[in-house]
Amino acid sequence: MKGLFPTSKFQNMKTPFYYYDVDILQKTLDTVKQEAGKYTNFCVHYAVKANANPKVLKIISNSGLGIDCVSGGEIKAALAAGVAPEKIVYAGVGKSDWEINLGLDNNIFCFNVESIPELEIINELAEAKDKKAKVCFRINPNVGAHTHANITTGLAENKFGIAMEDMEIVIGKAAEMKNIEFLGLHFHIGSQILEMDDFVALSNRINELQDRLESHGFICKHINVGGGLGIDYQQPNENPIPNFADYFKTYADNLKLREGQYLHFELGRSIVAQCGSLITKTLYVKQGSFKQFCIVDAGMTDLIRPALYDAFHLIENISSEEAMETYDVVGPICESSDVFVKGFELNKCHRGDLIALRSAGAYGEIMASAYNCRELPVGYISTEF
Ligand code: LLP
Repeated sequence: MKGLFPTSKFQNMKTPFYYYDVDILQKTLDTVKQEAGKYTNFCVHYAVKANANPKVLKIISNSGLGIDCVSGGEIKAALAAGVAPEKIVYAGVGKSDWEINLGLDNNIFCFNVESIPELEIINELAEAKDKKAKVCFRINPNVGAHTHANITTGLAENKFGIAMEDMEIVIGKAAEMKNIEFLGLHFHIGSQILEMDDFVALSNRINELQDRLESHGFICKHINVGGGLGIDYQQPNENPIPNFADYFKTYADNLKLREGQYLHFELGRSIVAQCGSLITKTLYVKQGSFKQFCIVDAGMTDLIRPALYDAFHLIENISSEEAMETYDVVGPICESSDVFVKGFELNKCHRGDLIALRSAGAYGEIMASAYNCRELPVGYISTEF
């Protein structure tokens, strides 16, 4: 089974470009809202880092989700898309003063604070504006996740968050600061997580922490468990919508929420990955001594995930129904890591055939670079065709 694309309309377009299927995005958003809506006080934020294309962001903003940002640029993008500032959470280990000020000026919902020096600066900057900054502390729970090492974040060795041992000291400090309001705790253990047990482990850790904090008299109004839900990169056509039902149920069953407490989520990949494809054109089919290469006009500059994380993206020749042949699909960049897939079956390729790299809506367009002086790929949504 192949994806559905308006291939004839793509024919005269400049490639490579990103194509976002609005139908899939909307169905995904509807499912997220429906599944999270089964539980009281579950608040879902979209992690803009996965895709900040203004047209995509506008659709997400219209759906009413909150937004998770990791930079001043992302806060600006969210505001431009019409997101209400009180729905914005802002994390990051290295927030610059201007970024903190931007958050303060817009009265964002919460700063997810990752160190004591950062807390002190936020307090200082808030004092200068005669404001109270609302903060959650990002706690490093030292919980592993079954995913690629480069996208694991919740281990003690990672740079993120505040060590659990220091938690009481930090919250105690915050309580003494005039311009800080303590809201609760923030976590994120990694990305592309498909084993619900990893989220169970995080829930258990949070339960222990909450008991410990309450014994010291610290009450958290908000718990934020970050993002991380994975998607099916192997079979995007069969499983276009991630398993949000299991995901939210796992937290509902395992995390002991207190009366009136809010549980926040920051989902990136699971919301936008499956709606996006990178569309590229076959430049040459080259016969090597023992393999053949399909050389396309997209490269690692347009989609870096295979080169950076050994990630798999399903590839389809959307111009051909001819018998399958085996190819290495490669880009034009002068790097030997500029390979999308090796030894992969595609309908026989010819020069000019359009090729779709699937599940590329998350961490695709947004991670593009201009290396080799290339132009950045443009992103289109399906309703533009
Ligand atoms: N919250 C925090 C604090 C995060 O660091 C991240 C992702 C998310 C939420 C969203 O996670 P998601 O739901 O998308 O898994 N470029 C990599 C992924 C990096 C993820 C970074 N943090 C990739 O292409 O696989």
